[in-house]
Amino acid sequence: MLRSRIIGCGSYLPEKVLTNDDLVKTVDTSNAWIVERTGITQRHIAAKDELTSDLALAAAERAMKAAGIGADELDLLVLATSTPDNTFPATAAKVQARLGMYHGTAFDVQAVCAGFICALTVADNFLQSGQAKTAMVIGAETYSRILDWNDRTTCVLFGDGAGAAVLSAEEMPGNPSDQGVLAVRMHSDGRHYNALYVDGGVSSSQTAGYLRMQGKEVYRHAVVNLAAVAGEALDAAGLTSDEIDWLVPHQANLRIMTAIQQRLDLPREKMVVTVDRHANTSSASIPLALVEAIEDGRIKTGNLVLMEAIGGGFVWGSALVRW
Ligand code: ACO
Repeated sequence: MLRSRIIGCGSYLPEKVLTNDDLVKTVDTSNAWIVERTGITQRHIAAKDELTSDLALAAAERAMKAAGIGADELDLLVLATSTPDNTFPATAAKVQARLGMYHGTAFDVQAVCAGFICALTVADNFLQSGQAKTAMVIGAETYSRILDWNDRTTCVLFGDGAGAAVLSAEEMPGNPSDQGVLAVRMHSDGRHYNALYVDGGVSSSQTAGYLRMQGKEVYRHAVVNLAAVAGEALDAAGLTSDEIDWLVPHQANLRIMTAIQQRLDLPREKMVVTVDRHANTSSASIPLALVEAIEDGRIKTGNLVLMEAIGGGFVWGSALVRW
């Protein structure tokens, strides 16, 4: 059977770092409160002239280098973002042109913090059905532009960044020891639209708006839904949680991540954590964490990697990948 194998990853973080102590100077908060409730100590913030497409391009170029391919080999580019450069065209179109990819197709997907899982799912389906051979999947965000920097309940939680993965369609025997994407699962429940949203938008207000969130509601749904969808991917692949080598969760906050790790009965050392230094970078958080664990030698060929994420909507999903 055809499977999508991840053949290279790359990431990019803006240079500017904003620590909790920096935030204390402008918002009524404390390092102790932020660390205790979220595990976050700092976040990266894009420069004024740095757009989501710039972050995406840098991550994509690094992923192509790691994969050892040129832009002419890509025939699909799926970019997950909820902070696009413009209302249209897709930010993917700009990245496609700047990469020098002049054929195939490129488009954005909007699944907020579940964006990378959604983009991976779309690309996996294109590759498995034979509609594309080599795909670039990107999660890129500039949340600093949609934060209300006077709202301490949200502005401390997020950061900017981008991550990317190159996938290649390859023939495999079709069993759980295959390399590549073994299973993906996605859900959404639009009844929770107002639990986490941006209070602007072209059609509703002709403004960009600011992120608003009912934190406790998000927390409650995140833990239940993520544990369930992680189990679904494992079941679909005929594997169990004790076979997972690395849990690479969406880095929303350490308490949600730890709750999932415990529900899966995994040792703490098997969870990749970057939220402390990156904060929540929405669709970029999983590929940013993947790159860190690949580059420091934790994720190795043959390892079983489980990713999961939830975002506004709510929309949530998981992906199980044999490295
Ligand atoms: N600094 C200091 N105090 C604060 C801050 C802050 N940054 N933010 C809120 N507080 C105060 C509140 O005003 C409140 O004060 P009060 O008791 O005097 O009214 C008190 O702290 C407790 O507030 P709660 O909202 O009850 O705090 P809670 O324990 O629920 O923690 C948090 C808030 C961290 C947001 C939590 O609800 C949570 O983790 N939710 C999940 C949300 C999340 O991760 N969202 C990310 C986006 S969604 C995603 O990616 C999955």
